[in-house]
Amino acid sequence: MYSERVMDHFQNPRNMGEIEDASGVGTVGNAKCGDIMRIFLDIDEEGVIREAKFKTFGCGAAVATSSMATELVKGKTVQEALQVTNKAVMEALDGLPPVKVHCSLLAEEAIHAALWDYAKKQGIAIEGLQEPRADIHEDEES
Ligand code: FES
Repeated sequence: MYSERVMDHFQNPRNMGEIEDASGVGTVGNAKCGDIMRIFLDIDEEGVIREAKFKTFGCGAAVATSSMATELVKGKTVQEALQVTNKAVMEALDGLPPVKVHCSLLAEEAIHAALWDYAKKQGIAIEGLQEPRADIHEDEES
């Protein structure tokens, strides 16, 4: 049911933890399954993501997608990180079962929420970035 990559990132999650004084922090949740994901980003003066960490209280797929999403955004610019969609995360994990697609959506939303927080703190606007619906919200697409 799960790819080897998903199992690997679930059993050996990368970038688990938090960043003190992070440039941006995003917390999102899915009211249906009750899972919560928080992503921390450390972004330098050039707008490059130096470090990304996560804390996820959720299912195995949510842990695996958090792990992969943080791996994918590290070293990227803020603009490039916006391209790390849930599809990109799923592809990097060699797919997810259909009932677990919403878990990868949580990862995309957590990154966007962290970028939004960063932009707010910096007083800048990031082109193409929408304000997160709310910190914790219901996901209709599960
Ligand atoms: Fe909800 Fe995975 S079951 S995030």
